[in-house]
Amino acid sequence: MTRDFPAHAIPTAAILLPADELTTAVDGFLAASPAARAWDVETAFDWARADAGRLTEGQRSAVQFVTYIEDHLPGYFDVYQRYFPVDDSVDADTFVHNRELYHFTVRWAVEEDTHARALARYQQAAGMAERSTLRDELAVEGRKPFDLPYRHPVQFFAYALVQEKATQMYYQQLREVSGDPVLAAVLTRLTRDEARHFSFMADVVGRYLRTQGDAVVEPIREVVAGFRMPLADSMRGYWRWALRIADVADYDHTAAYEHLVKIIDRAVDTRTEPLDELVRFLDRCRSLA
Ligand SMILES: [Fe+2]
Ligand SMILES: [Fe+2]
Repeated sequence: MTRDFPAHAIPTAAILLPADELTTAVDGFLAASPAARAWDVETAFDWARADAGRLTEGQRSAVQFVTYIEDHLPGYFDVYQRYFPVDDSVDADTFVHNRELYHFTVRWAVEEDTHARALARYQQAAGMAERSTLRDELAVEGRKPFDLPYRHPVQFFAYALVQEKATQMYYQQLREVSGDPVLAAVLTRLTRDEARHFSFMADVVGRYLRTQGDAVVEPIREVVAGFRMPLADSMRGYWRWALRIADVADYDHTAAYEHLVKIIDRAVDTRTEPLDELVRFLDRCRSLA
């Protein structure tokens, strides 16, 4: 999508988290991600033992599905580049904020790209797919545009908060039922990474709540009201597929909402009326699911 930033959609310094606040959040994320704890596709797993024959048909389907989701990383990364540009299209204060955020997004992108490679490598090693066939199949969805047309910066973090938590929980459940220990090992790594990504998003959303208070309540509510998992709108057969893999493990993004409520309560001493209303809304969304 060649969507230019409409002037109203580019977060400007006035509504961005103060750079000091963001820096603390980014430092926290990087401190929780030391090189010693990093892993790589090449050496972390015993690929020779990977065996998709030990998986049920539903589990294989789930692996294919999440490979598509993770493989769309270039599209997700591009969203941050477009809405938080690090060039002279923004004023100096906004640049400072965006430059700090970039320390997070590049690291996060490397990790998500590693997830995509690990899942693709599993499919090949376990006998589920030929490398070149898989590459071509992933390209069909991978080249489709992705966008999060939000108006307030907190919305990008609130969206990612829900999505990272939902993904973390899905991987956890899939790992528990996985018949192949190599897949389980891959999912253990992915689960830990997603948990760290969630923590960063939670930290940032909490800081928005503390610094901007009720002004971010409606933007957060909009994210929840319009929430769609990535690729839900572009992927061929997404909903049929999503329902099928739900039999294997529960891919329920509304389960993340209770974590959002906890973040709200940690961020503020006493809930204001708008916050109370947001929490009631979150509870309703959960009970509907
Ligand atoms: Fe991931
Ligand atoms: Fe993630």
